[in-house]
Amino acid sequence: MYLQFYGLREAPFAPTPDPKFLFQSTRHREALAQLLYGVRERKGFIVLSGEIGTGKTTLLRTLLERLDRDTHVAYVHNSALGIEGLLEYILHDWGVKSVGASHAQRLFELNEFLIDQHRQGLSPVLVIDEAQNLSVETLEAVRLLSNFETTNQKLMQILLVGQPELREKLNVPELRQLKQRIGLRCHIGPLSPEETRLYIRHRLRIAGATDAGIFTDGAIQRITEYSEGTPRVINIVCDHCLLSGYADSKRRIDAGVVDEAIEYLEEGERPEWKRSRQTRLVPSRTTVWAARSGVAVLVVLLMMLLVFAANATGWFGHALP
Ligand SMILES: Nc1ncnc2c1ncn2[C@@H]1O[C@H](COP(=O)(O)OP(=O)(O)O)[C@@H](O)[C@H]1O
Ligand SMILES: [Mg+2]
Repeated sequence: MYLQFYGLREAPFAPTPDPKFLFQSTRHREALAQLLYGVRERKGFIVLSGEIGTGKTTLLRTLLERLDRDTHVAYVHNSALGIEGLLEYILHDWGVKSVGASHAQRLFELNEFLIDQHRQGLSPVLVIDEAQNLSVETLEAVRLLSNFETTNQKLMQILLVGQPELREKLNVPELRQLKQRIGLRCHIGPLSPEETRLYIRHRLRIAGATDAGIFTDGAIQRITEYSEGTPRVINIVCDHCLLSGYADSKRRIDAGVVDEAIEYLEEGERPEWKRSRQTRLVPSRTTVWAARSGVAVLVVLLMMLLVFAANATGWFGHALP
């Protein structure tokens, strides 16, 4: 592998949501602060949304690392579960030895557990990742779970995390009660061009790079354009660049290496790449300007040629009285 060649301890652009690599862009930092605040202040329902690959799961894992050690966390990432499966999973994750055979018995066990936690001054956290896939019925059932509360406090905190479709789903009339209970919402978006540059450097540094300039400015510019600031895409492209740079014994990754890596990735049959390629079918602003300028220059040249030809043939002289 390329690690030794580039003086790295570990892969800098692995696809896993590892909190160790968290780069705190303005939006990521704000969202993390809000999530921590929401959980600590017991806001009840909290929603975190963001496009695919923008760092929601990475942020969540960072949040969970920062919570007190004795906070019980149930992390559900299989959103195909219905409410029964969900409840079973939660009880298991919180270490409740469930003997309940019916839904009502399981709810009773959950209530007992939450009250016991409350007596100890604790408030367990339920995280549902990829929550945009939950059915409306399951979401409504999750709201009912949040009914466990004292007169002034929620007994558990529920974090719903998902793609922007989640926000749309929460707008359906059947979920208006859930929507009203959302105590806090945060959204993360793509990185700005400057943040993309810092992100690449940050990940390289965490992976042990002593040379901050493995990627040239031109390379970073190409990656910025192609990825449109989505961390997951940046990672995939950068990883490919290091691989092909190593194969060609190139210490510096320049724009040419990036173009090759992008071409290679685009040739693959990955649907997500095909999708981003489709968006690229719309010409960029630079291309439009270049095309417009080209047409303008051609028109001027043509007019000059006409005037010249008219002069040479004496056409103006004949035409004028
Ligand atoms: N702020 C960030 N700092 C470091 N790595 C990030 C960040 N955001 C995303 N990533 C990386 O991008 C990839 C996709 O992130 P992930 O958290 O799985 O996105 P999402 O859950 O929004 O689809 C992972 O490899 C992750 O490590
Ligand atoms: Mg995720």
